[in-house]
Amino acid sequence: MAKSKTQFVCQSCGSSYGQWSGKCDGCGEWNSLVEDNPTTGIAANPGKQMRKGTPVQLVSLAGESEQAPRIVSGIPELDRVTGGGFVKGSALLVGGDPGIGKSTLLMQASAAIAKQGHKVVYVSGEEAVAQIRMRALRLNAIEPNVGLAAETSIENIIATLENDEPPALLILDSIQTLWTDLADSAPGTVTQVRSAAQAMIRYAKKSGTCVVLVGHVTKDGQIAGPRVVEHMVDAVLYFEGEGGHHYRILRNVKNRFGPTDEIGVFEMSDKGLREVRNPSELFLGERNATSPGAAVFAGMDGRRPVLVEIQALVAQSSLGTPRRAVIGWDTSRLSMVLAVLEAHCGVKLGQYDVYLNVAGGYKILEPAADLAVAAALLSSLCCAALPKDSVYFGEISLSGSTRPVAHAPQRLKEAGKLGFNQASASTASDDDTKKSGMKIDHIKELTELAVKISSMKERSEKLS
Ligand code: TYD
Ligand code: MG
Repeated sequence: MAKSKTQFVCQSCGSSYGQWSGKCDGCGEWNSLVEDNPTTGIAANPGKQMRKGTPVQLVSLAGESEQAPRIVSGIPELDRVTGGGFVKGSALLVGGDPGIGKSTLLMQASAAIAKQGHKVVYVSGEEAVAQIRMRALRLNAIEPNVGLAAETSIENIIATLENDEPPALLILDSIQTLWTDLADSAPGTVTQVRSAAQAMIRYAKKSGTCVVLVGHVTKDGQIAGPRVVEHMVDAVLYFEGEGGHHYRILRNVKNRFGPTDEIGVFEMSDKGLREVRNPSELFLGERNATSPGAAVFAGMDGRRPVLVEIQALVAQSSLGTPRRAVIGWDTSRLSMVLAVLEAHCGVKLGQYDVYLNVAGGYKILEPAADLAVAAALLSSLCCAALPKDSVYFGEISLSGSTRPVAHAPQRLKEAGKLGFNQASASTASDDDTKKSGMKIDHIKELTELAVKISSMKERSEKLS
């Protein structure tokens, strides 16, 4: 007979091991492995006879189905990310760093939904009722239709909800503070988080309430504990932002009822979160277009075009190994662009420190920024300011040629809308060029860009 095997499961990230160890290799957490004896599953008891089940009725895939009923919050940036509103009977996980504004966002959403006559229940395991009221007062979000409770026991929460008509929206802030009698471990552990989420998801399906679970994220961007919930819920939203900056991005990473590449942009003010309808204006707000080393990148975040300024400083180094510092972009991608500039364009940067910064604390995630980075670097090196009405986008390959990137028409359209009228890009069909009404410089090799920027310097020298 097969030997029953004991596993050790990390209570922080859910990784499992055959042997106990003091540190989890998956997340680096100490003392988080706990013995877990799998008594279920096929391997647990191979000799046991399978129970005779009852057949279920199969339906045709081609059948008619209703659209998922949704509760629209009336906050367009939030509705865009949820794919057109909260779906009744679904469960949602909202993750983000502590203090990023999850409770603020959900309080504002609760008030907006309650205002339309829906019943909303907000259960906080972190704050007292008086604290939540104070926050709502500041946010101008006092609504009589929002029921408040400061509670952490799942049994008590479900008993409270079953006592009355089920609400349209239920916020549980946060999943890490909830606990159920069914599991013996402490609140916040994987077992508790999983059992609590399971109970609440079951409630959502049964009652038709949309349940929103709030989860705190660890420093490295992982939802600790709540990560195990990700596969159970219908949608996962992340609320992100950069310390010291006011903008916040709500990103959709999983959605069973809509697209996943949507983002919503907000700004944190003293009166709560304010929607930002045009993110590019926010990121280009304080731009000084006449200084060398700044290039505007026409980027895409999910399905949304976002224009950001990339700033570079190339300065003579006094160190043996020159410094390369990057904020808001990938360091290895910068090394690659520098290597291509050296190898294919004859631009020697070995004696220079290179600093790269994406303005406004924004993080660029796509390789299409290569060309804009190269333009900013060349502009700083040549001390020549780039034309202030120009945007850049395109991927650079190791051979020094450029590669086309997706969504060129949307990038050009956004740039045109914001008053830019020329673009240096790796790709643009004639059709796109005509439609955007912009002057487009089609860059096929990085050398062309290097020649163009160095000639700008010569021209400005001749003029002075
Ligand atoms: P909060 O929603 O409590 O964050 P989370 O629930 O994600 O932990 O947000 C708290 C932060 O937001 C806090 O640092 C203060 C700031 N804040 C404002 O700047 N303005 C406001 O109107 C509110 C309510 C909070
Ligand atoms: Mg909170």
